[in-house]
Amino acid sequence: MPETELLHVDTPFSVSFTHRVRFTADVLDPVNPALRDAAAAGGNTPARLAAFADQGLLDAWPDLPRRLHAYAAAYPSVFAPVDAVHVVPGGERCKNDRGVFDGLCRQIHDAQLCRQSFVLALGGGAVLDAVGFAAAVAHRGIRLIRVPSTTLAQADSGLAVKNGINAFGRKNFLGCFAPPWAVLCDERWLGTLGDADWRSGFSEAVKVAVLKDADFFARLAADAPGIRARDLGVALPALHRCAQIHLHHIVAGGDPFELTHARPLDFGHWSAHKLEQMTGYRLRHGHAVAVGIALDCTYAALLGLFPRPDAQAVVACLAALGLPVFDPALHDGAELWRGAEEFRQHLGGTLCITLPRALGAALDVHQLERAAVLAAVAELAARSARTPVG
Ligand SMILES: NC(=O)c1ccc[n+]([C@@H]2O[C@H](COP(=O)([O-])OP(=O)(O)OC[C@H]3O[C@@H](n4cnc5c(N)ncnc54)[C@H](O)[C@@H]3O)[C@@H](O)[C@H]2O)c1
Ligand SMILES: [Zn+2]
Repeated sequence: MPETELLHVDTPFSVSFTHRVRFTADVLDPVNPALRDAAAAGGNTPARLAAFADQGLLDAWPDLPRRLHAYAAAYPSVFAPVDAVHVVPGGERCKNDRGVFDGLCRQIHDAQLCRQSFVLALGGGAVLDAVGFAAAVAHRGIRLIRVPSTTLAQADSGLAVKNGINAFGRKNFLGCFAPPWAVLCDERWLGTLGDADWRSGFSEAVKVAVLKDADFFARLAADAPGIRARDLGVALPALHRCAQIHLHHIVAGGDPFELTHARPLDFGHWSAHKLEQMTGYRLRHGHAVAVGIALDCTYAALLGLFPRPDAQAVVACLAALGLPVFDPALHDGAELWRGAEEFRQHLGGTLCITLPRALGAALDVHQLERAAVLAAVAELAARSARTPVG
């Protein structure tokens, strides 16, 4: 030990988490044990629980608060009496408006929760992100039970270990890693989604299929018309497979808190996050991801990294799902390019973009060739002029 140091220690340590994920139907039916068991797993019962629900979900399911109270009342040894359900504006607004976030923190404070209590977040990915962030910073972390109510949240964001809000014009600039206590997906709630939100989640399914599972991609491509027509017989298995791949990546991928430069599941996202911001969030996350995937596949094909017929198959699959594969905002090359730079800064110096090299297999690249990106935009623009979306 150098004489200048009194103590010099490098001791690795690890912390163990359990990812509790349930796909179930009618989570608020008292005969459904998923929510009761998740709370009981905390040990400190009867537990206090503060509930936060997405306005859009409440509009579609107005009896949700009554049913939640009845559910908790059916298990008095597990749940302390639940106060009124707090309403959170649905969609990206709750991540863009700092007042909403401050209100969530205040409501958690006023509910007198402790670190053994639960925050129950019910809604789409945006509400789960904002409520999850408030829960993660209040008391330095209150247990979060997520009940995702959109295709995207059930297949992807609800299982994530990330929470956050937008700030300074940057998507998810404020946020943290905090694994949820439990994730309970209720398939019934998907029935009330508008068509555009229904389709959103399947772009994330295409993303993981292209990167990791060629058979899954073939199934998605074949089932795309049924999924678009909201046939649950084909749509639910697709969401479940997507969720499984995400879950596996988080628990077995070796870098759940994204400490390295690699960001394998961010395929298509360097441009998607920028496009959301560039379009003032007119383009929803799932739709921006579809455009981002189409762009990256076309780019990879132009560079000879990804077979062109496979790139065309991915773009055709997205289009068959009713997802956009081009947006006029792409024409702002300078701003789009800033998205790549922001992604590089976010990663910490070294750009690392995951691209497909075959269906079901990925490669990382560390630079983007601007001319080829612009050529990919031009190719997608020409395609969209020939084949209008829909
Ligand atoms: N944490 C992560 O790792 C992660 C990963 C991917 C995406 N995200 C985030 O997720 C968000 C997108 O999530 P999303 O696609 O779920 O959209 P969303 O949360 O914006 O919800 C879409 C709309 O659906 C409404 N809604 C929700 N459930 C409903 C239901 N059952 N019936 C009727 N309407 C309902 C909402 O009120 C909203 O208007 C983005 O902010 C994105 O950044 C986070
Ligand atoms: Zn995404």
